[in-house]
Amino acid sequence: MANQEDIFKNIISHSKEYGFIFQSSEIYDGLSAVYDYGQMGAELKKNLRDYWWKAMVQMHENIVGIDAAIFMHPTTWKASGHVDAFNDPLIDNKDSKKRYRADVLIEEHVAKIETKIQKEVDKAKERFGDSFDEAQFRATNARVLENQTKADGILSKFKDALEKNDLEAVRQIIIDCEIVCPISGTKNWTEVRQFNLMFSTSMGAVTEDSNIIYLRPETAQGIFVNFLNVQKSGRMKIPFGIAQTGKAFRNEIVARQFIFRMREFEQMEMQFFVRPGTEMDSPTGEVGWYNYWKETRMKWHRSLGFGDENYRYHDHLKLAHYANAACDIEFSFPFGFKELEGIHSRTDFDLKAHEQHSGKKLQYFDPELNQSYVPYVVETSVGLDRLFLATLAKSYVEEKLEDGSTRVALNLPAFLAPIKVAVLPLLKKDGLPEKAREIINLLKFDHATTFDEKDTIGKRYRRQDAIGTPFCITVDHQSLEDNTVTLRYRDTMQQERVSIDALAKIIDDKVSFKKALQQLK
Ligand code: GAP
Repeated sequence: MANQEDIFKNIISHSKEYGFIFQSSEIYDGLSAVYDYGQMGAELKKNLRDYWWKAMVQMHENIVGIDAAIFMHPTTWKASGHVDAFNDPLIDNKDSKKRYRADVLIEEHVAKIETKIQKEVDKAKERFGDSFDEAQFRATNARVLENQTKADGILSKFKDALEKNDLEAVRQIIIDCEIVCPISGTKNWTEVRQFNLMFSTSMGAVTEDSNIIYLRPETAQGIFVNFLNVQKSGRMKIPFGIAQTGKAFRNEIVARQFIFRMREFEQMEMQFFVRPGTEMDSPTGEVGWYNYWKETRMKWHRSLGFGDENYRYHDHLKLAHYANAACDIEFSFPFGFKELEGIHSRTDFDLKAHEQHSGKKLQYFDPELNQSYVPYVVETSVGLDRLFLATLAKSYVEEKLEDGSTRVALNLPAFLAPIKVAVLPLLKKDGLPEKAREIINLLKFDHATTFDEKDTIGKRYRRQDAIGTPFCITVDHQSLEDNTVTLRYRDTMQQERVSIDALAKIIDDKVSFKKALQQLK
């Protein structure tokens, strides 16, 4: 059986071969960590975005969507803290001239120690079978204990150094752990420096400092600065949400793992404005908005049907200065559990900061309390590209069929598939292509359809399986006589004879967003 690494490589080449994702500017050897979505990828991405939008905006009376500009007044980023604090600690290896994120070097080193521990545990599990008590083994085995103490010690020193913003101490951890550059193999490291992740450009014809603007590193600030515009023009009553999807840009240093960490990516964010004090659970047991959104978003992810075991929460122990609670929804990507979405209780930090920097009041008059206040905010923020990668990774299957052949399929949820129906005339003659086009003309108003008459029918089925098309319709000579066709299902590969008049209903039922959205209630 292929391992996860091989499967991940296969997914990347499959994405290219079938028009899902291409390296940006590939003819010029590409641009690192920037990707283009091809003809299939654009459709799948749009369907994921639509599913999020429908669930978050259309299904909530008190959430509205906006589309703010990417360019924003530069003071926005001073107020939000991004100019001063949106940094990564960087270190260079003097021999290879390669640059690394110091925190990633340390985390990877700790991950290696943890892998060693896991190997010991797995070995013992195999040896002792059902009687194995993992907790006891971890608490008593000398080698495990030694490694665990080592890992905990490094993490604790690292947390301390970050909290004190002590970059020399971060470097010292790298030296003490004897971390080497993976390229040169040496420990010849520079100092650690902070590096701001925002991209900047200048607006207008004159290049002066005052004209410098940033490409937004998150879409959230476009929502904060429009808080009062939307509240007033939409007569919104607290609690209410503002949602948007759009591009964000970060000059990531360690940009790897395909579309997991990109320099240009898309976020889908929602800021939920609430009365202060209602964001966390109350002592009387009322669920606060933070936990409400944690659960609601988890349910949304699980509704995609990729398996509940592939999701978990990761609560943040170290909180950003503006947050009073934060967690990630992590997903089991082919390279391990990693962040897919963040849920943050951001208090009134952002709105207050914008009040201070703009001199404008950003307050809400609460008629029930008869008082004005700066609302608190609970944010949900998911990366569309990461969601795309999760979807591809869990839908991609390499199957051995009964006849010994293999098939590669994308078992996408039908409502997300880029193409819903492929109509295939058995032959290129005898009026079969014309009949197939009639069927396309019936279905194309509601669904993404395609027509394919090239190659054998078997090859055409495989091509559709590979892009995740849930239905293939084959038109043959009998179709001309009795108005029936063969309907083939992607997942089971079963076929049935159905009347052309019945097609729309069968397909509508299976590919509509409605069923998936109904599970969310
Ligand atoms: N407004 C809050 C915010 O931006 P974040 O945790 O920095 O929070 C939210 O980002 C989500 O955006 C992440 O959970 C991830 O899915 C996605 N994301 C962040 N950086 C990314 C990158 N470089 N490439 C792709 N997706 C990214």
